[in-house]
Amino acid sequence: MPQTWMITGANRGIGLALTMELLRRGDHVVAAARDPWGGALAEVAGGQAGTLTPLELDVTSDKSVAAAKQALDGRPIDVLVNNAGVYGPRDRQSALDMDFNAWREVFEVNVYAPLRVAQAFLPNVEAGTGRKIVTISSRMGSIGSNPSGAIAYRSSKAAVNMVMVGFGNAVRGSEVAVLLFHPGWVRTDMGGGGADIPPAESAAGLIATIDASGMRETNSFRNWKGDEIPW
Ligand SMILES: NC(=O)c1ccc[n+]([C@@H]2O[C@H](COP(=O)([O-])OP(=O)(O)OC[C@H]3O[C@@H](n4cnc5c(N)ncnc54)[C@H](OP(=O)(O)O)[C@@H]3O)[C@@H](O)[C@H]2O)c1
Repeated sequence: MPQTWMITGANRGIGLALTMELLRRGDHVVAAARDPWGGALAEVAGGQAGTLTPLELDVTSDKSVAAAKQALDGRPIDVLVNNAGVYGPRDRQSALDMDFNAWREVFEVNVYAPLRVAQAFLPNVEAGTGRKIVTISSRMGSIGSNPSGAIAYRSSKAAVNMVMVGFGNAVRGSEVAVLLFHPGWVRTDMGGGGADIPPAESAAGLIATIDASGMRETNSFRNWKGDEIPW
């Protein structure tokens, strides 16, 4: 039975790889992006087993989220994936030298937006049968790994872990599983060409792990293979 997944930041990187893998196996994908009709998404639309619904969505905008919600018109979503993310400046995000405006922008996308999107589309997820809300976090947000450097990005991922665990507890009663993942170090614009794994490998692992997850795994923080990561 095909499922309906909604993915933010679906136009490139890990979001695009998730979209392609889900379409290949025959699922329906609501591919949300700031420009969902341009570039790679338009190219993957044809010749797939599943169906693609492009959805315009800037996750940092209340207005854009409201318009996207209206466009979906109550359509049930089985799995919602908060994937859109930014790294922030490659320089000036250390403990000793911070670009504070850039840090704010990182929090807009990586922390506030996943909650905004989860709140807005919760009724769609409650109307589905999969009942999962996934957020792509990062092991760089693990305080247990005693981090230094990339403070804007790391703090945003630590914060979104906290936010989504709170959200998970709030929706536990309606049996919606809330899951946090590190996708691996992935060869995307963000991960860079020297990263460990290609997007397709991360996407396949994430999908298999999400498929196998339910309420027992709610509020867990794991990698794309399903191994737990210390908070
Ligand atoms: N790559 C890695 O090694 C790695 C490791 C750990 C965690 N992650 C996480 O995995 C997720 C995906 O990363 P990636 O490597 O695929 O990054 P990427 O290639 O840089 O793609 C980022 C995606 O986020 C979208 N996005 C950014 N701001 C947005 C906004 N305001 N509204 C809607 N979409 C927005 C981008 O859309 P535009 O094209 O419109 O900019 C793009 O689709 C992120 O949350 C990232 O933090 C990645």
